[in-house]
Amino acid sequence: MNPTATVFVIALLFAVATAAPQPNQGTAEDTEPVVTLTTCGGHVDASSATIQFQLGGSIRADMRCVWIVQTPYFTQRFNLIASGLKETDGLYITAVSKAWLGYTDKLSSIGQNVTLTSRSAIITLIAGHAPTLGFKMEFYSSGSSISPDVTSHAILTTTKGNLTHPSNGGNYGNYENALFAIAPSVPGQPTLSFTRVDVESSGACLFDSVRIYNWFDGDYLQVAIFCGTTIPTSVTFQDGVGLVLFSSDSSVTGTGFDFQYE
Ligand SMILES: *[C@@H]1O[C@H](CO)[C@@H](O)[C@H](O)[C@H]1NC(C)=O
Ligand SMILES: *[C@@H]1O[C@H](CO)[C@@H](O)[C@H](O)[C@H]1NC(C)=O
Repeated sequence: MNPTATVFVIALLFAVATAAPQPNQGTAEDTEPVVTLTTCGGHVDASSATIQFQLGGSIRADMRCVWIVQTPYFTQRFNLIASGLKETDGLYITAVSKAWLGYTDKLSSIGQNVTLTSRSAIITLIAGHAPTLGFKMEFYSSGSSISPDVTSHAILTTTKGNLTHPSNGGNYGNYENALFAIAPSVPGQPTLSFTRVDVESSGACLFDSVRIYNWFDGDYLQVAIFCGTTIPTSVTFQDGVGLVLFSSDSSVTGTGFDFQYE
């Protein structure tokens, strides 16, 4: 190789090295969604996804669907692609932080972006009191890497049911963040009752906690937080959907809890 060619090759290598993404700039969005979901509700653990439900078809009145989304990167962009949803329906995006829920945004117009910086998110479909039409949305994550945050989850869609956490008995772990959605696929007003609680006790339940969120008027409202062995009063999800969020810190555990709903 002559000296001129060597200089050229070095210059080329330098240009390539300079153009390469720097680690602290994080990861770009996928060019196309890597996963597609077409069910009412579900769990997605991917860098991007298409969620389409009854696109071109109908959705029954008062239908509720909950999707739990986990992504490997900190910034999440949700975009509405196509929609037959009406003014009285809603497709909502809620940020999930460690131990509590963040704010909720409505995704209502085609092309609109809702952008969050959070570890996980919840998508909630609320159909109004009349049959409606389906939709298609996408999300993309980008930016700095984050470790998985929701350690266990369930979306309960039967008319009545129950749940024990942890499901295999014994004590729950440290650093848990367990998210349970109650969203019966036959519209109703389920009442949630805890029957056993054994969670590390502390003043304001700052260490380990169980929170109940009741969907009301476009948002999940926290209606209870408890720990120790306190059995909270029953909660009726008058708008057909609610959440239980359990979180534990770095030490001291218990045997968890049981709840039922109908
Ligand atoms: C939504 O975000 C995408 C990607 O950043 C952008 O191309 C598009 O213009 C945005 N839409 C609106 C309505 O701002
Ligand atoms: C709890 O749910 C299971 C099905 O998931 C059912 O077989 C069982 O009878 C239920 N237990 C109670 C106490 O309702």
